[in-house]
Amino acid sequence: QPTRLWGGRFAGGPADALAKLSVSVQFDWRLAPYDIAGSRAHAKVLSRAGLLTNDELGSMLAALDDLEAACASGEFKPTIDDEDVHTALERGLIERLGTLGGKLRAGRSRNDQIATQFRMYCRDHARIVGRLFAELSEALCDQAELHMGVALPGRTHLQHAQPVLLSHHLLAHVQAFSRDASRLRDWDGRTAYSPYGSGALAGSSLGLDPAFVAAELGFDGPVANSIDGTASRDFAAELAFVLAMAGVNLSRIAEEIVLWTTAEFFYAVLDDAYATGSSIMPQKKNPDIAELARGKTGRLVGNLSGLLTTLKGLPLAYNRDLQEDKEPVFDSLETLETVLPAFIGMMSTIRFNTERMAETAPLGFTLATDIAEWLVRQGVPFREAHEVAGACVQACETRDIGLSDLTDADLAAISAHLTPAVRAVLSVSGSIASRNAVGGTAPDRVREQLADARKDVALQ
Ligand code: ARG
Repeated sequence: QPTRLWGGRFAGGPADALAKLSVSVQFDWRLAPYDIAGSRAHAKVLSRAGLLTNDELGSMLAALDDLEAACASGEFKPTIDDEDVHTALERGLIERLGTLGGKLRAGRSRNDQIATQFRMYCRDHARIVGRLFAELSEALCDQAELHMGVALPGRTHLQHAQPVLLSHHLLAHVQAFSRDASRLRDWDGRTAYSPYGSGALAGSSLGLDPAFVAAELGFDGPVANSIDGTASRDFAAELAFVLAMAGVNLSRIAEEIVLWTTAEFFYAVLDDAYATGSSIMPQKKNPDIAELARGKTGRLVGNLSGLLTTLKGLPLAYNRDLQEDKEPVFDSLETLETVLPAFIGMMSTIRFNTERMAETAPLGFTLATDIAEWLVRQGVPFREAHEVAGACVQACETRDIGLSDLTDADLAAISAHLTPAVRAVLSVSGSIASRNAVGGTAPDRVREQLADARKDVALQ
């Protein structure tokens, strides 16, 4: 007897080539626990509608428990003849219950089943990924707290720009990750509706209660429209986007770790447990975690664009194209679930070379803006102040000295406004302390930011 869920109107079985093309159990078997949870809720709703006796419901639930345990232990496995997870599990149920197992399929379709189970899987795994991002943010907050007061040259165009606190820089990444976390929460709110009961597309006729099933499966309610319930996959595409965006954010800090661990920067040293060596060059210590995080972001972006392309132009309602929705999303979730623990370990154990950072903080004339702004406070128009500070930089550059090496006479020769009092702002710590408006790099502001970030992370 074939395990197929269809066949009555066909003269024979499918061609081998079709079966091979059609099969999805190799990837949708991940959904087995959700399929069984759905079956349990569906059995209950059938019994509430008077379509299963209490005894039948009891046997059905016991068989589902047994099947669930057999799946978990690996004792029950899908075979190559099982087209998909639903087919395999119906086979398992019938092996346990005989003909009674055939009653469970009433009033449901694989179309509403798959849409529901996929949502459940995504919601669970999005929560796992969200927790991992929260852990990463926590590790960055810990580093920010530990290094409060350490300055480094902030950069634009990768060129030295203005000195900032290392903590401020690390917390900038935390801000991005907390937006990713909030996108995941928003996404979950939109995805919390169950398509179960939508049937093939038109809804179920057997007096089944979709709201009951939705509540059993942890949803906020049933979908409002059965066609939409079975046809829509924007929840999958949106999740793929949120994950791709988070991956892109991760790739930006990853790139900085790659740069910071070079001999030229020498801003950070990786812990041995989170770095790799070379098979030929004995001295090598490579930042593979950061590189893999950066590289795998390509998959996340590809998964998003592949899925959107699959969805584009599909007529309502279900089309078999939709079977292509799962692998990209599974891959994005699993990629981040693999990358993040390593990345968290790397960021919690990385050692920052704070002396080197501090030493390079004033290099590249990073205090030039402070001279211009000091002049503004003396009443000089910024346009002129900018020119004067620029002339200071030029004078230093030709003589290969720093701004603080200019003598009183040098300063006076550049502009009568440049009295020796300007020296007060020619220090990295003075510059950092002066940027004390909300969001700035002044130590008090950064401490407030850290406290807020910690509160936000605790809510994730
Ligand atoms: N395996 C399908 C999917 O992933 C679900 C089954 C629906 N199949 C069908 N012929 N209506 O979308």
